Amino acid sequence: MSARTTSSERRADTAGQTQPDTRRRPLPGDPDRRARLERILRVDLAGEYGARRIYDGQLAVLGRTKAGPTIQHMWEQEAEHLDYFEKAVPRHRVRPTALQPLWHMAGFALGAGTALLGEKAAMACTVAVEEVIDEHYANQAAQLSDDGEEGELKRAIEKFRADELEHRDTGLAHGAAETAGYEALSAVIKAGSRLAIWLSERY
Ligand SMILES: [Fe+2]
Ligand SMILES: [Fe+2]
Repeated sequence: MSARTTSSERRADTAGQTQPDTRRRPLPGDPDRRARLERILRVDLAGEYGARRIYDGQLAVLGRTKAGPTIQHMWEQEAEHLDYFEKAVPRHRVRPTALQPLWHMAGFALGAGTALLGEKAAMACTVAVEEVIDEHYANQAAQLSDDGEEGELKRAIEKFRADELEHRDTGLAHGAAETAGYEALSAVIKAGSRLAIWLSERY
């Protein structure tokens, strides 16, 4: 009987083993992890594209005013963010959003439309959009690990988030909150931005 183990010995063996925790440490090919990476890259490329279009619209109206250089500086930072995602999306073989033509038009219309209301309204638009993007990037960074490709993406997102917060502060310093109907304008732009994020994660 020495070659056979008793049922209690088998139980002890199983209990003593360290089972890999696949829930906390997904394998590299994990479909959930891949889906998350795709969702993040797709929506961020769309968002940074839309952001640059907002500043294109603002510059078309206010480029030659005293606010021009300030808006141009924010445009350049958005172009840098966009460049990162334009390279990362094909590198990770992610399908870009099908809604890019919509963000092309909607971004410009939002930027130019608020700029036509005046410099303060343009700045109110920036503040509203950047507050939503701040939440969005913080949420994404919290989902990403610190290692490997995810870590690289996480560090880029954290850097861009700091730039977006700077844009929000610039908007506030330029009197965004003094815009007539600021609360309502801000609420509409935030709702639109959240809808754009929701759509770009999926389509
Ligand atoms: Fe950006
Ligand atoms: Fe921004």
